[in-house]
Amino acid sequence: MTVYAIIGGTGLTQLEGLTIRQALHVDTPYGAPSGPLLKGVYAGHEVLFLARHGHPHRIPPHQVNYRANLWALKHAGATALLAVNAVGGIARSAGTGGFCVPHQVIDYTYGREHTFYEGELEHVTHVDFTHPYDEGLRQRLIAALREEGYVHEAQGVYGCTQGPRLETVAEIARMERDGCDIVGMTGMPEAVLARELALPYACLALVVNPAAGKSAGVITMAEIDRVLGEGIEKVKKVLVRMLLG
Ligand code: HPA
Repeated sequence: MTVYAIIGGTGLTQLEGLTIRQALHVDTPYGAPSGPLLKGVYAGHEVLFLARHGHPHRIPPHQVNYRANLWALKHAGATALLAVNAVGGIARSAGTGGFCVPHQVIDYTYGREHTFYEGELEHVTHVDFTHPYDEGLRQRLIAALREEGYVHEAQGVYGCTQGPRLETVAEIARMERDGCDIVGMTGMPEAVLARELALPYACLALVVNPAAGKSAGVITMAEIDRVLGEGIEKVKKVLVRMLLG
């Protein structure tokens, strides 16, 4: 049976409704993960939960130890990964408060530990990343969003920036020309590390603000927090619906 690991992003540092059986404090060859892996039962399924930014939220996107997180989840028994990410909306269709289940990613990050294939290697490996997200998981997320009646885009290109600052208007305009529909700071290298570990991976992105230049004003944390507060309740419903389905 599939053991899902849910990687909670901004706003989802704990998973209410998870019956916790064990809190695993794992050490990895890459250092410590963002926090304990919570192993338990959620919507009748055995799941693992990890808060990407720690609980409470204290690790910025560029300092998340993505390698430790993914290695720990795999070694704790995860066989599929569901990532929850707060993002900014670039495309008109990616409206604030809605969801996107991206099908592609463009990586604008730099200086992050982005591969397991380094050091004393027996041979060089280039993983296939043509389709970065697992289509089966994506379709199940989309079905759950549809069943809940939530506004969503069933595909989109996730542009991952370095952060922690937000983008300039010119950067978002460039990303739009590149084909990005949404912008976030945590989608990579998480997705590719999952691929290197052969773990099916999909992303449930909640749009929490219009990206820079896509609204009249500037982006405020107060606005983001307000949208997150409402959106996270929906995220939990989608996850439950998907696991039950
Ligand atoms: N840009 C990058 N990351 C984000 C944003 C944004 O506008 N909103 C939430 N995460």
